[in-house]
Amino acid sequence: MPDKATLLGPMQVIPHEYPNIRCRSIDVTLPQTGTRIETLVDQLLVDVSAGPVEPIVAYRGTYRWVQTFEPVRLEKPEAVPPRLKVGGVYLITGGLGGMGLTLARHLAETLQAKLILTDQLALPTSTEWDAWLSTHHEDDGVSRKIRQVRELEAFGTEILVIQSDVTDQVQMQSIVAQARARFGRIDGAIHTAGIPGGGLIQLKTREMVEQVMAAKVKGTLVLAEALRQVPLDFLVLCSSINSVVSRLGQVDYGAANAFLDACIHTHTSQPMLAINWEPGGKSEWRPRPGRN
Ligand SMILES: NC(=O)c1ccc[n+]([C@@H]2O[C@H](COP(=O)([O-])OP(=O)(O)OC[C@H]3O[C@@H](n4cnc5c(N)ncnc54)[C@H](OP(=O)(O)O)[C@@H]3O)[C@@H](O)[C@H]2O)c1
Repeated sequence: MPDKATLLGPMQVIPHEYPNIRCRSIDVTLPQTGTRIETLVDQLLVDVSAGPVEPIVAYRGTYRWVQTFEPVRLEKPEAVPPRLKVGGVYLITGGLGGMGLTLARHLAETLQAKLILTDQLALPTSTEWDAWLSTHHEDDGVSRKIRQVRELEAFGTEILVIQSDVTDQVQMQSIVAQARARFGRIDGAIHTAGIPGGGLIQLKTREMVEQVMAAKVKGTLVLAEALRQVPLDFLVLCSSINSVVSRLGQVDYGAANAFLDACIHTHTSQPMLAINWEPGGKSEWRPRPGRN
């Protein structure tokens, strides 16, 4: 269950913040027969009495699984990758954020894609954009987003920008309906909506953690449900390397991203993929003032 995977966040971050505590995750499914249970108990005793070997272990049947990683080189594709379509219709949550706009620009530029960008921020209607730009500073958040949407439109892209909260089922279902009414279909979706975590466990409140978990945990479930009947080529979840390489002050953010990583194994009705982005580049991922 992906909700249980959220434990991997605290499990990895607690030892950074409390050096006297060691954490390991030992994941078991209880066997049905007595002899198997005895074997499992023996295996668990060996595991808990051993030193800090593998931090993440799972027992399944007679197998003991440990987490490993393999390097993979991603070559630049020569042609359009098979899951992307020229003129495809793509829904991006958090579409006016740094990564959302970067991916939107790439899809617009290379595929002349039609885009549905959802965001918490409400833009004025397009007929009011000139008036807004002439009466607001160029650094104003809405002005910047208007200019960025216009840059996308300059590629000849059709864009639907819709304000919504990705955790709201009714709003997300309505967005899917509006997108299908306008473009006839949705070929793929990218879930970038998210809020950065940050702050020591001792100083965290429940509200702070809920804010960070909302878009990634509830938002992913809401989005997957809203798109359940839509035959997609892909549903990409933007996770973070923080779910694998834990960092101080990232207990909630690591947990939320661990949920995304696990989701792709349980939501098999859609072709889901999680990408563990590394912070960096133009849209460096740093906690924003006033968030927590
Ligand atoms: N950029 C990086 O270096 C990096 C690295 C690793 C992982 N990631 C992941 O990639 C994703 C995108 O990152 P980013 O750099 O593009 O962040 P960003 O610039 O802050 O954009 C995130 C967008 O999501 C929106 N959002 C947040 N909660 C939402 C909600 N409940 N409903 C609808 N929209 C919501 C935000 O709207 P508001 O601004 O109105 O809140 C914002 O526009 C995040 O999930 C992040 O965890 C990013």
